[in-house]
Amino acid sequence: MYNDICEKLNKYGQQQLLSFYNILDDKEKKQLIDDINSIDFDLVTRVYREISSEKAAPQGVTPMKAGDSTAFSQEEYNRYTEIGQKEIVNGRVAALTMCGGQGTRLGHTGPKGTYDIGLRSHKSLFEIQCDGLKAAGEGNIPWYIMTSNINHDDTVRFFEEHNFFEYPKDNIFFFKQEMMAVLNKDGKVLLEDKGKILKSPNGNGGLFLSLKKAGGLEDMRRRGVQHIFICGIDNCLVKMADPLFVGYYMEAKAPVAAKSFMKRSAEEKAAIFCYADGRPYVIEYTEIPAELANMKYSDGSFVYGDTNVLNYIFNIDIIDELCMYPMPYHGAVKKVTYMDTNSGEYVTITDGLKFELFLFDYFVRLEDLSLLRIDREKEFAPVKNLTGVDSSETAREMYIKVHEEER
Ligand code: UTP
Repeated sequence: MYNDICEKLNKYGQQQLLSFYNILDDKEKKQLIDDINSIDFDLVTRVYREISSEKAAPQGVTPMKAGDSTAFSQEEYNRYTEIGQKEIVNGRVAALTMCGGQGTRLGHTGPKGTYDIGLRSHKSLFEIQCDGLKAAGEGNIPWYIMTSNINHDDTVRFFEEHNFFEYPKDNIFFFKQEMMAVLNKDGKVLLEDKGKILKSPNGNGGLFLSLKKAGGLEDMRRRGVQHIFICGIDNCLVKMADPLFVGYYMEAKAPVAAKSFMKRSAEEKAAIFCYADGRPYVIEYTEIPAELANMKYSDGSFVYGDTNVLNYIFNIDIIDELCMYPMPYHGAVKKVTYMDTNSGEYVTITDGLKFELFLFDYFVRLEDLSLLRIDREKEFAPVKNLTGVDSSETAREMYIKVHEEER
């Protein structure tokens, strides 16, 4: 067994992972071997090589039109909302919150969903979402919560300690996303400890495969769910399973719908919905040519302005289909702390390499996508940083503007 592992690590130039093997006890040895066996070294080698290669610029970029919910007539608003409510009442809608991330920028100890943004009620982000779901479906909407190894137990414990916020326990399903090895700039896999590999969650694009593997899709089918409302944990103004959004998506008859808001300036660091070679695409601010970023319609609105809110509805069958496609990993240079194999000390570096899959990379596989533009002031208040822009302070202020009772 040990010899097989040595051979494998030699092949990939990752022998450093066994530096402390001889001083580990039997249990630790087994854990390290299991950890090494869980790593797909072919994949690690490939994504490390790819990180340094330049990403091809999107071709054939054209604008994507959005339905502007802020300009809906009362009749339109009522019609979409009624259609959405009917789907919800008939049990065809589930909600899914992606909470597997590390929340590094916020620096809160514990899962981000447990964070209290300082409201009078001291509601956590989890409780805020739970209240939203109760309002949309009176506790009948099944709620799927994606965690990861770094926060799963703490998340489940938090729900237990708060009696699942009085939400029916049988309608809450926790599942873990996959993890990916963390590397140094030379492509060496790092250790978290003498007998453990350093890993980080594999990005929000890991969602579909992890949901499927965990039996989540099967559970949804058993319940008669057909559409999944998907969001992150950090937008405290998210409208959970928004009936208007569900109704709009139903009428559009597209397999996927997304919410957007209009960017405020050409310079905003926004990820914009568009088409690339006729397929839905999200173009990053780093990719978009200045000419397109500045382009406006005659009414003064941006042609490329609909910003990704990380708020989607996916048809359950399309998820099954998307699971078949291989997805590209994106590398990010991050601060990481690891166990140095020479000194046996913990070392912090700022050029660690983490790899993530992005959910929006699936969009190029879709025939089309239906876009609903929302009012940013009413529906988008992300908690990303401890202070400053997109912090608990800005989120709290925006939340209070919408929810007077928290004033
Ligand atoms: P972000 O990309 O903002 O990451 O996630 P984050 O982990 O919250 O924060 P930083 O970047 O480390 O500071 C947006 C949403 O996607 C989820 C997050 O939990 C959040 O709800 N996410 C992100 C996952 O579920 N898994 C991941 O691997 C990454």
